[in-house]
Amino acid sequence: MSSHSIKMTHDPLPFLQKLDPKIYEAISGEETREEDGLELIPSENYVSRAVREANGSVLTNKYSEGYPHKRYYGGQTFTDVVEEIAIERICKLFGCQFANVQPHSGAPANVATYFALLEPGDTILGMDLSHGGHLTHGHPVTYITKIFNFVRYGMKNIETGEIDYAGLRETALREKPKMILAGFSAYSRELDYQKFVDIGREVGAYVVGDMAHIAGLIAGRAVKNPFDAGFDVILSTTHKTLRGPRGGIILTREDEEIAKKVNKSVFPGFQGGPHMHSIAAKAVAFGEALQPEFQEYAKQIIKNAKAMAEVFKQRKVRMIGGGTDNHLILADVFGSLGVTGKEAQTVLDEVGITLNMNMIANDPRKPMDPSGIRLGTPAITTRGFKEKDCIRVAELLLDTLENKDDEDYKKKVREEIRDMCHAHPIPEKHF
Ligand SMILES: Cc1ncc(COP(=O)(O)O)c(C=O)c1O
Repeated sequence: MSSHSIKMTHDPLPFLQKLDPKIYEAISGEETREEDGLELIPSENYVSRAVREANGSVLTNKYSEGYPHKRYYGGQTFTDVVEEIAIERICKLFGCQFANVQPHSGAPANVATYFALLEPGDTILGMDLSHGGHLTHGHPVTYITKIFNFVRYGMKNIETGEIDYAGLRETALREKPKMILAGFSAYSRELDYQKFVDIGREVGAYVVGDMAHIAGLIAGRAVKNPFDAGFDVILSTTHKTLRGPRGGIILTREDEEIAKKVNKSVFPGFQGGPHMHSIAAKAVAFGEALQPEFQEYAKQIIKNAKAMAEVFKQRKVRMIGGGTDNHLILADVFGSLGVTGKEAQTVLDEVGITLNMNMIANDPRKPMDPSGIRLGTPAITTRGFKEKDCIRVAELLLDTLENKDDEDYKKKVREEIRDMCHAHPIPEKHF
């Protein structure tokens, strides 16, 4: 990866420091936490300084309800430029014709799409949540389940991660969904997108991919693009592997009628004024993702995750799906090491490794203290970690879990992790 410009000091925030010291101190504290610890939450990343500058810009002052050249307020000379550039760049990255860059985040992007393409009572066939699907794909605690009827597919074999495509087809033929949803937040294998499209066409359903987790891997050409198989729509967040600000996007491959429905649904159907500062920051991040070096970054994320998975495998720690093809690993630490997901999360926090506890398929335990942990490599890869560094991280992680009550040992690990972090500072500029 080419020259990183390294940040050695905290951001100067002179106005905040003087006028609101409490908030300033909290932000400074977070900055130190990020610099001194290893971020393994697979949905997090470090944006460039340029992305943060756009995100913190005067565009936060502006109302721009509507779309470029069709707004409800005056003064849109510059907002139109920003939104059009964001759209053009993301369409180029994903090879699609239409994009809505206004969703405030992933969940609103998903819900706005359901409303765009479906009628209340319609059925959505999505990935079983305990097999890796996301809350917005129909978890009973979400309000969207009061409006649409969600049915499920899942893995045929938890040890290999293979999806039960025959079962998916059978359910689709029986339930007649209007939308088939591919995508996940805790699944580590590649999906067979062609099968989703074939089944979708057979039953007359829209085929939609929620690629929030792997959008950066797709944009970086490190994994397959669902549009190449004929998906109608791709939904995503912009803040995970795509390494942009917090936000959402809805992409339409080629059908203008779908794109028009999506636009109407996002505004005025669901949201109010777009967050133009976020849209500017999205545009900057998409510009970064269009650089050839981003493809190296995306490939390195996967190499790093595979290197970590190899350590887990050698040490006989069970991984759901048996390993990884993407940026994440879901490990059954309770079944393999007798440490619950919550205990693991807490003890790893103590040594400076941040990850999250996670339910695994057929988990005998409860969501607030499940059997699994979920970890990933997007953020440490941004810091410049390579395979050998990731092997060491995996070893330290498992050693810590095996020595979770040994305070002296944990202190030593904390020191080693701090040293690793200081040897790989968070870059201000990615390329
Ligand atoms: C697959 C998937 N969809 C949607 C979302 C929701 O995104 P947000 O938290 O930005 O609303 C997430 C977030 O983790 C996700 O993993």
